[in-house]
Amino acid sequence: MKDSIKVFSPATVANVGSGFDILGFALNNRGDIIEAKMNNEKCIRIFNQSGTDLPLNPLKNVAGVAVQSMLTDLKTGQGFDITFHQKISPGSGIGSSAASSAGSVFAINELLDNPYTLKELVRFAMQGEKAASGVAHADNVAPALLGGFTLIRSYNPLDVIQLPSPKNLLCTIAHPDIIVRTEDSRRILTKEILLKDAVIQWGNVAGLVSGLYTNDFELIGRSLQDVIIEPIRALLIPGFDKIKKTVLEAGALGCSISGSGPSIFALSNSEGVAQIVEQTMKKIFNGMDIEVDIFTSTINRQGQKII
Ligand code: HSE
Repeated sequence: MKDSIKVFSPATVANVGSGFDILGFALNNRGDIIEAKMNNEKCIRIFNQSGTDLPLNPLKNVAGVAVQSMLTDLKTGQGFDITFHQKISPGSGIGSSAASSAGSVFAINELLDNPYTLKELVRFAMQGEKAASGVAHADNVAPALLGGFTLIRSYNPLDVIQLPSPKNLLCTIAHPDIIVRTEDSRRILTKEILLKDAVIQWGNVAGLVSGLYTNDFELIGRSLQDVIIEPIRALLIPGFDKIKKTVLEAGALGCSISGSGPSIFALSNSEGVAQIVEQTMKKIFNGMDIEVDIFTSTINRQGQKII
């Protein structure tokens, strides 16, 4: 049995336009690097070498909460040290807390000789999300664990479905230097929606899933519409409407808010278009004097990776 392991846990884009709390996909170019080791202390200890501020109290750290829920379920008193070597910026909208929770439960499950399947780990990682935002949503942790596109068909009982990830799909992310806490950007959402909006929304969810199965980029693009959540959250992201309009004109398949924001994502199916999308996003944020981190990534199909 190994007593130490290091993993790469990918960043993720949740919601994917119309699929609030049910759709997400994983990215290759950003993620956490997490090391887990057995200790003799019978408790979880968190260490941080990532250079990003993180709570070291395991009851306040999403990874600590997620791992504790797994150890409680296993009824084991074994202790673990969890060290963060690289960390996605918290509050960025690309699944920072999910990468930590998913990576930690995955690593410790490996050290314990895999008592749980990857799908079973989702519910433990969700406890980290609950600690971060008050809601145990799974649309970031499921793709972080399983890779590719995932669908949460149902929360009760939890039913996670892996969807196909078309080759040649590229995702450009713009992460402006503003912080939007998931808890806050959930609080501003309306709790009731109009039937006419629901009809548009579920048509788009079905269209997107269908486009993923058939490799139909046109269909994926025109299904990337969110008439319920995006209009409200767009108000928290300076320049969102202009960026969306401009990148669509530049040839992106679709564009929306990544998770609860402030990151914006745009999908494209060629390097050339992705480059133009990057430049467009950069120019618009620079014009508003907002620092921005922009990158393009392929879709991560593997999920967790032992390194
Ligand atoms: N579905 C969640 C939300 C994702 O939109 O609040 C948070 O990353």
